[in-house]
Amino acid sequence: MNHPLSDPLSDTLLAWYDRHARVMPWRVSPQDRAAGVRPDPYRVWLSEVMLQQTTVAAVKEYFHRFTARWPTVMDLAAAKDAEVMGEWAGLGYYARARNLLKCARAVVADHGGQFPATRAGLLTLPGIGPYTASAIAAIAHDERATVVDGNVERVMARLYRVETPLPTAKPELTALAETLTPAQRAGDYAQAVMDLGATICTPRKPACGICPVNTACLARLAGVQADLPRKLQKAEKPVRRGTVWLGHRDGAVLLERRPERGLLGGMLGLPGDGWDGAGGPAPAPADWQKLGEVRHTFTHFHLILAVMAARIDGPASRGEWVARHRFRPADLPTVMRKAWDIARDRLEA
Ligand code: ADE
Repeated sequence: MNHPLSDPLSDTLLAWYDRHARVMPWRVSPQDRAAGVRPDPYRVWLSEVMLQQTTVAAVKEYFHRFTARWPTVMDLAAAKDAEVMGEWAGLGYYARARNLLKCARAVVADHGGQFPATRAGLLTLPGIGPYTASAIAAIAHDERATVVDGNVERVMARLYRVETPLPTAKPELTALAETLTPAQRAGDYAQAVMDLGATICTPRKPACGICPVNTACLARLAGVQADLPRKLQKAEKPVRRGTVWLGHRDGAVLLERRPERGLLGGMLGLPGDGWDGAGGPAPAPADWQKLGEVRHTFTHFHLILAVMAARIDGPASRGEWVARHRFRPADLPTVMRKAWDIARDRLEA
């Protein structure tokens, strides 16, 4: 497909973005961008990696803490692994945090502390896949790269009335998004489509009445916008059950750093068993009492975790004793944080 220098639809989206762009801490407004301000690739990269985990609202807080503590990619590259894992705690999918550090270190070691300026160059970095490479290339450098996330897929499925369900429709939706991407202002355009999807072309009850491209929208014309994009039914997630043990004694708790590889890799947690293939026995014989259960959903399964607690007087076979005042519960991944929250009240009682 050819792509005209300027498509009326992308012009309309850009004009809408000029008036309605959301304000975000990592974003350069379209007005500032037009005046020559360039987004910092480090901040674009960091925000995009975080945004793959959760919502804009939730990312803001993490983004502020990361950039206050590590203002440049050099600072982040010099951070200790455990510090970064701790700040990432709660965002989930911890392999991303380890890749984040690997990437920062590669930028410093192999690129003199500057992110490569092209999509192709960015793709050579650890943890940077097609989405992130396109987002940084477009947003930070205005390379004509097409950014396709769930918002963009939804907007394309509706504008062009693509009835093929996801994920089968992905290549088709990507091709449509590519066709629409303008040669100029590719970064603003990418963010315009994402903002439109997040604020107007929402999954449920899209606000078609105020949509800047409503007259071009084939789904709306047919009255099927709320049904698109169609999705293949996903298989039910299996349920796993397991146990964690909170051992305590005299102002200290027994914690365990998880193996680097695998689920919650490299994160701090409570010793456990039965759910992740990385467990083991209770850390010591003790009068273990069940305090309650934690429910948590991972990408591929639901987990029900029994939370056990006991005072341990003798030696422990696993984990490390950490003084309560040196332990930041916020450093725990969410599932462990939930278990801690159940146990904490008991410890203080
Ligand atoms: N979602 C992910 N990246 C985004 C961005 N740069 N702007 C708006 N929404 C986004």
